[in-house]
Amino acid sequence: MSDFNDELHTMTLSEDGSYTAYSKEYEEHYHSTKDGALHESLVKHVLPAFKEMQDKKSITILDICYGLGFNTLATIYYHKQNNLTSKLSIYSPELDASLVKSLLNFSYPKEFDGFKEIIKALSEDSVYEDENLYIEVFLGDAREYVRRFQDKFDIVYQDAFSPSTNPILWTKEYFSDISKAIKDDGVLTTYSIAFKVRLALYENCFNLYENSGEGFRVATLASKSELKAYKLVNMEHKISCNKEISSLRDESI
Ligand SMILES: C[S@@+](CC[C@H](N)C(=O)[O-])C[C@H]1O[C@@H](n2cnc3c(N)ncnc32)[C@H](O)[C@@H]1O
Repeated sequence: MSDFNDELHTMTLSEDGSYTAYSKEYEEHYHSTKDGALHESLVKHVLPAFKEMQDKKSITILDICYGLGFNTLATIYYHKQNNLTSKLSIYSPELDASLVKSLLNFSYPKEFDGFKEIIKALSEDSVYEDENLYIEVFLGDAREYVRRFQDKFDIVYQDAFSPSTNPILWTKEYFSDISKAIKDDGVLTTYSIAFKVRLALYENCFNLYENSGEGFRVATLASKSELKAYKLVNMEHKISCNKEISSLRDESI
């Protein structure tokens, strides 16, 4: 066992056999311990997003937020496993610089064994680059970071701590910035199915879809384009049944 644990983070075994961590600051795990850290990353983020990216020669991803780096590393794993040739660029903000530094000591699943050089470069320099892969971890506030980009991202992994714990990364105003940063045919993935979150996305012209399957709890996909493979959430019907509920707003936090 490595010495990753400190006064704010404790490594925890999740049900697929991969480790996640518990944050004493946010009082929340970094992943669903039931779905499993690696499994959750693959089925709620990487697989549904890449299903929509079949013919792209280059794929640019916004990974909100880096945390333990599972979504970034699972993306590289999936890309290699499937011999994809598209160029990958991943941009990931993370407020907790000491967490990123400590990831050299994290016990990652064996699927990430080939990525030690990447994990080391990101934890020491916040950047990794090779022929087909560019990754930058921005050590700072995601709200500020996403405003730098316009029409840039094919994929957004929306994987902040929960809306009740970290609402600033789930508001209508936040998703307005995401809406500007994502391409018109881009796909946003998130584990959250909260109506307040879906509404905040809907109010920014995203269509909402259910991401469901065997062995994981239902999740959400959002896109300004039509995603034919997924069940559309009938937001107008849900709005008419939940008139008292409004989207999360910056002013109410
Ligand atoms: C649920 S974890 C992300 C898990 C990550 N996707 C993974 O696969 O390991 C949420 C992360 O958001 C970070 N965070 C919280 N508020 C932030 C902000 N305003 N800007 C950037 N990062 C933030 C936390 O430090 C934490 O690492």
